[in-house]
Amino acid sequence: MKTNVRLCHLLLRRRFCTKSAPKVKTRMGKQMGAWQICQYGGNEELTQTTAARAPSIQKPTDLLIEIHAASVNPIDTLMRGGYGKTMLNMLRQGLWNQAGGTEFPLILGRDFSGVVMETGKDVTRYKPGDEVWGAIAAQRQGTHAQYCIVGQSEISHKPKSLSHVEAASLPYVAVTTWTALCQVGGLTQKNAQNQRVLIHGGSGGLGTFAIQLMKAWGAEVTTTCSTDAVGLVQSLGADVVIDYKTQDVQSELQRISGFDVILDPIGGKIPTFSTDLLKSWRNSKYVTLVTPVLSNTDKFGIPLGLFTSATSFGTNIIKGISNGRSYRWALFIPNGNALGQIAKLVDDGKIEPVIDKVFTFDQLPDAFQKVEGKHGRGKTVISIKDS
Ligand SMILES: NC(=O)c1ccc[n+]([C@@H]2O[C@H](COP(=O)([O-])OP(=O)(O)OC[C@H]3O[C@@H](n4cnc5c(N)ncnc54)[C@H](OP(=O)(O)O)[C@@H]3O)[C@@H](O)[C@H]2O)c1
Repeated sequence: MKTNVRLCHLLLRRRFCTKSAPKVKTRMGKQMGAWQICQYGGNEELTQTTAARAPSIQKPTDLLIEIHAASVNPIDTLMRGGYGKTMLNMLRQGLWNQAGGTEFPLILGRDFSGVVMETGKDVTRYKPGDEVWGAIAAQRQGTHAQYCIVGQSEISHKPKSLSHVEAASLPYVAVTTWTALCQVGGLTQKNAQNQRVLIHGGSGGLGTFAIQLMKAWGAEVTTTCSTDAVGLVQSLGADVVIDYKTQDVQSELQRISGFDVILDPIGGKIPTFSTDLLKSWRNSKYVTLVTPVLSNTDKFGIPLGLFTSATSFGTNIIKGISNGRSYRWALFIPNGNALGQIAKLVDDGKIEPVIDKVFTFDQLPDAFQKVEGKHGRGKTVISIKDS
């Protein structure tokens, strides 16, 4: 059995993964250029190929996209190492029925900016040639490739004022922020005015977007970051900045406490003191993006992993709930409608992309290394079509 599995890996590697392949022209519907992994591991598993299987539309609501640019997110480096595989493989099972029973070769990358090539028969909002952007479900094949398949509910028209490279920096962090601050945190364009919002990690991909969204909606924003990023987050509009390298974050935040919503993409000690920083009796919310759901299912399997997560969530809720304050988890959920609203804010000049570094498609492993090295100031982007 083990020999068969290994043989299968070898065959997959020969068929789909050729190391350092030269660039060739794509034959539509057959082969395409892509970076993929044939087993989980470090950066050495990323393999460039010109002969990846080009995807085709399987559902009437799907679209085939030619990708011009994509970004690299911390989730890509985690997924490269196998994070979330138990849950994601369960979600992928419908796709395997058509494709043969393994996630490999796996293409990483969760967002893109590109052009619609083909549409399924029930796609009503888009036509071939439309410029779109999107952030796609984690069980789909990814966007570090020339083509991908998306559902029409995962995309919107891209902002007209941005290039594809600029646009690709936003969808994943923008949709995640939207889930956390709007769907879970309850903030809207109408009610955010003068709300006191604390955003931890203001200098990263997610933080630089979240600060701008909240300022566009009139909230008062406090953020935390390292010394060298203070100027950056101030330039994005942050009202109060706490430098976690030189200041005691907990006592500084306690001094100015009374937040309506706290967004935490960092974790560590932050959850231990955060619910006390919320306003009392005002339906205030601490929302964390650091959740154990996928790692628990990897560790314990799906039933026990979900049970363990539910128990830890329940304990945190009970600890967190007091005087109208609540403790909540948020996870990325694809949301084309949110992207449509964000595209308008971008075209109105309310939100700008913050790009740390752009890599060519051939340099994708360097981009992974950069994101894995942490300390990002905004986003890391891959130019695919023109590189
Ligand atoms: N649950 C979900 O679905 C989901 C989705 C997206 C993201 N996330 C979470 O959100 C995190 C951030 O995503 P991202 O794309 O913004 O990552 P990122 O671009 O790597 O940004 C993280 C930023 O936080 C800063 N930082 C690190 N430690 C800090 C601290 N103690 N206080 C304040 N700032 C700190 C880093 O800079 P310095 O280290 O130089 O200070 C960096 O600028 C991810 O690592 C992930 O855990 C979760």
